[in-house]
Amino acid sequence: ANNVTQLDKITNFQTRSEEFFPIEWYTQKLEESPIFYDEATDTWNVFKHKDVTEVLTNYEYFSSEGARTTIQVGSKSEEGEVPDKTNLNFADPPKHRKRRSLLQAAFTPRSLKNWEPRIQEIIEELVEELKEKEQVDLVQDFAGPIPSIVITDLFGIPITDRDQFKEWVDTLFKPIRSENAEQIEQEKQQAAMEYYQYLFPIIVEKRQNLSDDIISDLIRAEVDGERFTDDEIVRTTMLLLGAGVETTAHLLANTFYSLLYDDPSLYQELREDPSLAPKVTEEMLRYRFHSSKRDRTVKKDNQLLGVDLKEGDLVVAWMSAANLDEEVFEDPLHLNIHRPSNKKHITFGKGPHFCMGAPLARLESNLTLTAFVKAFSKIEAVPFKLEDNLVESATGQSLTHLPAKLYR
Ligand code: HEM
Repeated sequence: ANNVTQLDKITNFQTRSEEFFPIEWYTQKLEESPIFYDEATDTWNVFKHKDVTEVLTNYEYFSSEGARTTIQVGSKSEEGEVPDKTNLNFADPPKHRKRRSLLQAAFTPRSLKNWEPRIQEIIEELVEELKEKEQVDLVQDFAGPIPSIVITDLFGIPITDRDQFKEWVDTLFKPIRSENAEQIEQEKQQAAMEYYQYLFPIIVEKRQNLSDDIISDLIRAEVDGERFTDDEIVRTTMLLLGAGVETTAHLLANTFYSLLYDDPSLYQELREDPSLAPKVTEEMLRYRFHSSKRDRTVKKDNQLLGVDLKEGDLVVAWMSAANLDEEVFEDPLHLNIHRPSNKKHITFGKGPHFCMGAPLARLESNLTLTAFVKAFSKIEAVPFKLEDNLVESATGQSLTHLPAKLYR
């Protein structure tokens, strides 16, 4: 973990709240230094929409191999390491294409359609539980649990001990910082081992009884005669948990934060017309998902961004900043679900590595919003101190609690 470039040295935020909503920093960079070299971390930093797009899409010049700022997920133990076959985050085309198509077998539009009723049911059950309380915690009681319940259900894992499962996931995806690297790595190895021992027999069993779930699809998947072993499937589920749980929880939590604090009239608008949910989702991905960024390594000397980039240079593409670029988004600091450039945000990336879970994340968000506004006529913020309710996570600063009053 020590050779991971610490991006917090570049941003140098003074408070958690500032990191939670860094739009001042992003705007300042977009205006004053849309491309800059940071000496302390030896990185090039890129903010404008067109430059970020160039870095993410032009893999001939900007390589994903050996990414250097991504926080280690999973663990470095044998049980926790992502198998080569699915280690698609860190591969360039053409190698990347094959790995991606193996995984794609589990993420077809057809399977998403099949899963929709199950996802809806999970969300509606949680909404029912909310109805029983006068004051709720929208993070702990709702936004937080949804993505992990959904993905374990889609995996086809019988979750007898949901809390234990959540604990493994939380540990496996804890961010590593230089001060605590060794201790966290040990915790991760322990969690990876326990998770592995729990899941392996389930996969062996499932091979005999294939059904309609992601693990069965991974067992069936075959590309050019290659298939996954049981061992690879366990570790692939870890990759999916790492990519899909905290990110989606972050989106949902921040959406509710925004409905409470950014624009209280939006809730009524959505309640009157729940078919606006997809527009709300897209605008939240643009405006309230602040931590999307990726690094690439320069493969060949070039001047594609107007500066001299040398082979081996590290370039950080700040996607969440690009989402505020006024060349693409009119009045970018204003939340507006009706903006015509609605879907041009690059929160899910762009190009060959475009997020494979984007349709699932979008579906979860749309179903969550729809079920919620149908159940409650009004939501009301309960004053709380933002700074004390944030925690460092793989997605930057995440809300730990969000108290609200709900009206039927
Ligand atoms: C890739 C963001 C949800 C699975 C990515 C990338 C981004 C991203 C930015 C591109 C990485 C790159 O260019 O190097 C998000 C956000 C999410 C989300 C913001 C939620 C709001 C999910 C979910 C899943 C998932 C729910 C699956 C369960 C993946 C996978 C990749 C990926 C497998 C790797 C694709 C590749 O390298 O070819 N995601 N993601 N993501 N995401 Fe997501």
